[in-house]
Amino acid sequence: MENKLKDKNAIITGTSRGIGRATLKLFAENGVNIWACCRTIYTEDEELFSNLAEEFGVWIKPVCFDLRDEDSINTSVKSIIKEKRPIDILVNNAAVSYGTALSMMPVAKIKELFNVNYFAQLQIIQLVSKVMMRQKKGVIINMGSVSGMEVYPGNLAYGSSKAALIYATKLLAKEYAPYGIRINAVAPGTVHTDMDSARTKEQMKEVIDRTALKRGADPEEVAKVIRFLASDDASYMTGSVVVVDGGRTDF
Ligand SMILES: NC(=O)c1ccc[n+]([C@@H]2O[C@H](COP(=O)([O-])OP(=O)(O)OC[C@H]3O[C@@H](n4cnc5c(N)ncnc54)[C@H](OP(=O)(O)O)[C@@H]3O)[C@@H](O)[C@H]2O)c1
Repeated sequence: MENKLKDKNAIITGTSRGIGRATLKLFAENGVNIWACCRTIYTEDEELFSNLAEEFGVWIKPVCFDLRDEDSINTSVKSIIKEKRPIDILVNNAAVSYGTALSMMPVAKIKELFNVNYFAQLQIIQLVSKVMMRQKKGVIINMGSVSGMEVYPGNLAYGSSKAALIYATKLLAKEYAPYGIRINAVAPGTVHTDMDSARTKEQMKEVIDRTALKRGADPEEVAKVIRFLASDDASYMTGSVVVVDGGRTDF
């Protein structure tokens, strides 16, 4: 079967662990060169990246910045752009999840979360889409969540940040379509990563009870959907929110 992703270049955020790490591995296996965005790079990461690069004949370059730091995002993404290589794919994956009832949560904390989960994503899209517009092609995948679509008490900050990102995805699909840029969101349910392990046993049971498949996803199961959206197999998809939640019902 033809490998439609071979020799493409992708920016992936949050490659240190979880879904971002699984996507990095799957993309490398599929011959994609990667700018691996992470906050900090450790020796084990460098070893993994160079092993994957050697095994699959790709390059993987760490690019370190913190999504809370607007200047650092700007400098780092511009350093990628300065390489003057095509940027075929952007996977806006990194995010944080925390929150309680509004009565218990200072608005400053909500703003902090929005800076990472929403404004940083927009900033990266804005910078990268300029290159994609010049290329007249590109694919952007934003990591939404079913939390942005269902109403879960205590989840105001995270849920509304994901709802905002989903809205932006649908809107930007219209703005970018004339430039040949497709932009979609993936909305996972519960995925076995560090983020998901922050739930209490009771919270996890409640979520699994209303999930048809009666389990959470492995990060690789989400990465495969990202791979599909990044490929030309999804050439007629833009502004879509692909739900990957094992058949989860709302309350
Ligand atoms: N797991 C789930 O159940 C689930 C469900 C629905 C949607 N999602 C979404 O899927 C995406 C990936 O989540 P995950 O489950 O893989 O989470 P995770 O295991 O907690 O990984 C989060 C990633 O985001 C990075 N990150 C967090 N804050 C950052 C910052 N300020 N600057 C730069 N990088 C930062 C982390 O880097 P560090 O290692 O440096 O912290 C890490 O690489 C997120 O958008 C999340 O909202 C997850």
